[in-house]
Amino acid sequence: MSTCRVCDGDVVEFLDLGRQPLSDHFRSGPGLPGEFFYRLAVGVCGDCTMVQLMKEVPREKMFHEDYPYYSSGSSVMQKHFEDTARRFLKTELTGPDPFIVEIGSNDGVLLRTIHEAGVRHLGFEPSGKVADVARASGLRVHGDFFEEVSAIEVHESEGSADVVYGANTICHIPYLKSVFRGVDALLAPDGVFVFEDPYLGDILEKRSFDQIYDEHFFFFTARSVQAMAARFGFELIDAERLPVHGGEVRYTIARAGARRPSEALVRLIAEEDARGLSDLCRLHRFVADIHGIRDDLVGLLRRLKDEGKTVVAYGATAKSATVTNFCGIGPDLVAWVCDTTPAKQGRLTPGMHIPVRSPDAFATEAADYALLFAWNHAEEIMAKEQEFRRAGGQWILYVPEVHIAGA
Ligand code: SAH
Ligand code: TYD
Ligand code: ZN
Repeated sequence: MSTCRVCDGDVVEFLDLGRQPLSDHFRSGPGLPGEFFYRLAVGVCGDCTMVQLMKEVPREKMFHEDYPYYSSGSSVMQKHFEDTARRFLKTELTGPDPFIVEIGSNDGVLLRTIHEAGVRHLGFEPSGKVADVARASGLRVHGDFFEEVSAIEVHESEGSADVVYGANTICHIPYLKSVFRGVDALLAPDGVFVFEDPYLGDILEKRSFDQIYDEHFFFFTARSVQAMAARFGFELIDAERLPVHGGEVRYTIARAGARRPSEALVRLIAEEDARGLSDLCRLHRFVADIHGIRDDLVGLLRRLKDEGKTVVAYGATAKSATVTNFCGIGPDLVAWVCDTTPAKQGRLTPGMHIPVRSPDAFATEAADYALLFAWNHAEEIMAKEQEFRRAGGQWILYVPEVHIAGA
């Protein structure tokens, strides 16, 4: 049992993914001492229904100078954030001197469009090198973690924000009470707090258990976000399903009573209640699904190895740390993984130590099979790697079940 980070209720554990490393910690050699491991387990709060990790990893271990995730690595995501920024410019940032604050602005993938439109902005981004990329393109980025104290400081110097936005970041923050107090201090009376994160409804349906790792602390539903917002004097007014990253929801929160809740929100909550998303029996079914995927995936990889096939992987994602460490997949089963991120290349994946290479290796060294760790970018990757299939290569996917693509 642990204590809910939102409401202090009791959190009941339903899933144990075992000993796991930091998902974004790519090591330069196998013999280095002191790789950090922790027990990755997930529970559900009996009071507010929030699904969350049982234990948090200290934030400085995850988000630091060398944090290697660069948001602009996907052209689909670049387009997604450009569209999102344009929508804010049209709907929320229309006053005389509008101001948007982004929590987890990373390399500036969203704020770039805001800046080009000449609108006042500030990113909060504690990870040094990714923040520097954004600063190099002229963006204003604060190096602090967003929380109550840093938000109050920014409010004192910059005034109220019309929009506080976070993509794939709010679910990373266990200390959400402090975040909400910070938003309360910073947000204009009619402002909106908007965030988008992987959706528990999609994770259960797609059995995408690899969305669970150190950085993903919370797994939201419209129901749990609605209860959370109400606790802090806010109100959830809209929830929009998004296709990116394997299925997300964008939540829009306003001050209580300030705006009317949308019909889409009412519909999504009714759907969630009908599906019983946070019922323990539904969550136990998910656990059984995950064990089936592990057996199928390891079985397939062992069979291919026995047949003398070459198997590599595509995308050294944070998600894949959970898959490889939970299933025990190392370089004996997957020779190497390719990834476009220079900061990951030439290094080893966390825990299982699979070598990371550049996509050039994928183009030049014909493999029989490629395990698609970056399955959430399948369309983008398969479109640019068509030659792989033409040469007889086949993609292995494990979402929503283990299968060969197109087979
Ligand atoms: N918004 C981007 C980046 C997501 S990765 C996208 O959707 O692609 C999550 C980012 O949040 C990382 O860059 C990390 O450094 C940052 N982060 C983590 N905790 C934070 C906090 N408390 N305040 C601001 N940024 C935070
Ligand atoms: P992503 O799935 O976005 O997130 P996470 O690490 O949080 O699981 O990570 C995608 C990874 O895949 C990232 O390291 C970049 C890499 N990648 C490629 O190598 N090629 C591509 O075409 C794309 C889109 C991503
Ligand atoms: Zn709770």
